[in-house]
Amino acid sequence: MRVYNFNAGPAALPQSVLETAAAELLDYHGCGMSVMEMSHRSAEFQGIIDEAERDLRALLAIPESYRVLFMQGGGTGQFAAVPMNLMHHGVADYIVSGTWSKKARQEATKYGTANVIASSEDAGFAFVPDCADLPVDADADYVYLCQNETVNGTRFATLPDTKGKPIVADVSSCFLSEPADITRYGVMYGGVQKNVGPAGVVIAIVRDDLIAEPAFAGTPVILDYKTTAAKGSLYNTPPCWNIYMCGLVFKWLRAQGGLVEIGRRNNEKAALLYDRIDASALFRGIARPDCRSIMNVTFTTGDAELDAAFVAQAKAAGLVGVKGHRSVGGLRASIYNAVPLDAVQALVNFMEDFEAAHARAASAEVIGTPSSPSSPSSSSRSSQGSASSI
Ligand SMILES: Cc1ncc(COP(=O)(O)O)c(C=O)c1O
Repeated sequence: MRVYNFNAGPAALPQSVLETAAAELLDYHGCGMSVMEMSHRSAEFQGIIDEAERDLRALLAIPESYRVLFMQGGGTGQFAAVPMNLMHHGVADYIVSGTWSKKARQEATKYGTANVIASSEDAGFAFVPDCADLPVDADADYVYLCQNETVNGTRFATLPDTKGKPIVADVSSCFLSEPADITRYGVMYGGVQKNVGPAGVVIAIVRDDLIAEPAFAGTPVILDYKTTAAKGSLYNTPPCWNIYMCGLVFKWLRAQGGLVEIGRRNNEKAALLYDRIDASALFRGIARPDCRSIMNVTFTTGDAELDAAFVAQAKAAGLVGVKGHRSVGGLRASIYNAVPLDAVQALVNFMEDFEAAHARAASAEVIGTPSSPSSPSSSSRSSQGSASSI
């Protein structure tokens, strides 16, 4: 039986996509071999990568003035690729709103001056910093932000005014989760392993004029945007099967009704979960409500042992991956595109049951009766006796 998967990445993929991949695994469209076995120079693979790009362009309405690059090295590779390709004047501005933008900025300091123009680090990254009037450096080549901070569970619901400077955005954990105006971005990039496909591909959508000039002389060729664009993402051997999987996910997204419909569903799922958290006497949200991510919902009981019991019992109940990131603790449910409303409803039911069992155990302790807390019971998927007591 497949579990309800709340992993932060690698993460859930649409079941129908996995079924298509399984059906095509041994013989892709009658060519007698798997996509994993075919030459990346073959007509079949060229068809796969071209179609993936076409579908992605349709989903995001990407104009011809942007290049779509299928690259390797993950989000972390892009932390270096961005300054190496774009920091022509040796200066860039960074908005530091969480774990991942902090790492990106740190990496950029190797290649030039990476100003921190806004930060919420002092507040433990519980919200995205105020960007109403950013002190943008006149020499900055770009302003960088992470649109959805996976660890902290915050997001920029709208892009800040960067005073004419191109925005470079890491969208790894909110890629294709709702409509976006690509023309507001200089570069939008995302590792695919959360919303789009299996780990091993990072997609960078890059405005042409930003790569008119060559990258730093020391840039490794596999991180070079200009070369990757010129070679159609086939300078070297790409992760062919992973790109094929991304293509299947793009088709699935289009079949669901595109980003408008996906955004509607994602907002509905997030509201269901946040409403439960806000109504709870046991759980509380970690991110400030006005900055809450609709992809990564962070919450806690405030008690590390109780959080751990929740994670263990949820797993026994078939609700997997609700442990907070190791650097911050607490709880986190990642509710990416492929996580259905049913899964979120099952989690909400489980939280209610867990809270009720906890309250019963607490009141039994107060009145001095031997404590025999019952397990979360009825409405979550797990109730078939697998959950242990709190
Ligand atoms: C928002 C964000 N950016 C970057 C990264 C780093 O990606 P990778 O592990 O592919 O290097 C992650 C990883 O989870 C992430 O969530």
